[in-house]
Amino acid sequence: MTGEKDILTLLASIHPVQREGEYVYVLWPYGRPLAGGIEAAVREAEGLTVVLPRAEADQLDLRYDFVAAWITLQVHSSLEAVGLTAAVSAALTDARISCNVLAGFHHDHLLVPVADADRAMEILHELSAQSSDQPAPQLILRTERPEDRPAILELTAAAFSVSPATGLPVDGEPAEVGLLKELFDCDEYLPEFSIVAEQNGEVVGHVISTRAWVGDHELLGLGPIGVVPRLQRHGIGSALMQESVARGNAAGERGIALLGSPEYYSRFGFVPSVSLGIEPPHAEWGDFFQLLPLAVWPGGIHGTFRYAGPFERL
Ligand SMILES: CC(C)(COP(=O)(O)OP(=O)(O)OC[C@H]1O[C@@H](n2cnc3c(N)ncnc32)[C@H](O)[C@@H]1OP(=O)(O)O)[C@@H](O)C(=O)NCCC(=O)NCCS
Repeated sequence: MTGEKDILTLLASIHPVQREGEYVYVLWPYGRPLAGGIEAAVREAEGLTVVLPRAEADQLDLRYDFVAAWITLQVHSSLEAVGLTAAVSAALTDARISCNVLAGFHHDHLLVPVADADRAMEILHELSAQSSDQPAPQLILRTERPEDRPAILELTAAAFSVSPATGLPVDGEPAEVGLLKELFDCDEYLPEFSIVAEQNGEVVGHVISTRAWVGDHELLGLGPIGVVPRLQRHGIGSALMQESVARGNAAGERGIALLGSPEYYSRFGFVPSVSLGIEPPHAEWGDFFQLLPLAVWPGGIHGTFRYAGPFERL
């Protein structure tokens, strides 16, 4: 048996390649002669499962649920290699992408939901890059420049392609992209609070805070914040949050409010806004609407929080 067995070498050289087309799993009708371009088959006591192109399943009038993209890891892995499947599945699971693995004699093959194919490819490339000997690239946090805008909108679309609220894929352009375009153009836009994270010359994360109010008191409303999916959970979001807080304090801002998971934002000191006497713009947001009092928080501010105009039109 030949083929690479060392897990780091394997991961560094997985070379994922996506095959053309869409594939489906079907239960082959009992007694029917095999037909069509079957790509994989598993015989079980209950019947024969085959994987074939969706178009052929349609032509043969076969039923299916799961429509997959087919990604081949081009590395020649030994069937005795330990850990490759586990590492790849773990990386995709972290990104909430379901994945069926087929092991061939030469390569491993991943069947992932069609809608997640691009993200899965990004994650696999990232896994491969992490496993090579390259030192981690430096992260630069800086104020956005006009030429960053297309990259910011693209990464925002990718970051919000799965809804943080429901965990389900979003149809069409996520609402956060349109919101961001309007925030860039509105009166409440504050240039120094639109911050990008850059790595190797690529814009990999972005956060914006815009002018907001409680009564006549000026505050900051933070959001959207996004990180390219393949680099999420590497500390980039935290770095953008900490930079926003540092800039807020340096500018003498009073506080920052946002809508998001208390589990994530409490680590930066955010608390439910109602605990400070500030009502969310929509009562049903409850404890998900949070506020971070900054160094010069005056206390005694009560009322309903009002975001920049574009949020009202959401
Ligand atoms: C949310 C987001 C900006 C965080 O950035 P990030 O670079 O992935 O996060 P970090 O690496 O700094 O922090 C990772 C930690 O945050 C946690 N985390 C990330 N998103 C979370 C969420 N929505 N809820 C709870 N915890 C979350 C992770 O579990 C991890 O925790 P750990 O350190 O205890 O393991 C990024 O994941 C993203 O773009 N998500 C999609 C868009 C989105 O949800 N935006 C925010 C809407 S409020």
